[in-house]
Amino acid sequence: MTERLYTRREILTRIGWGATLGTFGGLAGASVRYVIPNVLYEPPLTFKIGRPEDYPEGIDFIDDKRIFVIRQGNHIKVLSGVCTHLGCPVLWAEERNRFECPCHGSLFNARGQVTAGPAQIPLPWYEVTLTVDGRLLVDESRLVSFERTLSV
Ligand code: FES
Repeated sequence: MTERLYTRREILTRIGWGATLGTFGGLAGASVRYVIPNVLYEPPLTFKIGRPEDYPEGIDFIDDKRIFVIRQGNHIKVLSGVCTHLGCPVLWAEERNRFECPCHGSLFNARGQVTAGPAQIPLPWYEVTLTVDGRLLVDESRLVSFERTLSV
């Protein structure tokens, strides 16, 4: 049995077809990519965080939402846990009664007001309401004052 060898013409023709198909494939891929936009899917600004009874007296941090849920008796408030300097998560320092940013040292008092920079803007308080099914609904698009609480 003899093995068939390709001629030089056949080899060059195959290389030419491969290059042509590769070029058109790349163009088709680029065209599809052009039509499909780059979309950044942001997390929703409104979300439920459970029932009031899930939060005992004191301050709870919800890690994935980066918020503090503060309960004082029958009153609940929600404070952002994101430093207003460059967005690091702030920590509640119970013994010093303040929020502290570990990144650059900003300090916020228990009302969320800046007591030491570099942050210049206070931590925002978010509106929290009760849904018809008895769950807490946080709306990060609605800022409220420190005095505003949800009575539960
Ligand atoms: S990110 Fe908090 S002080 Fe810079």
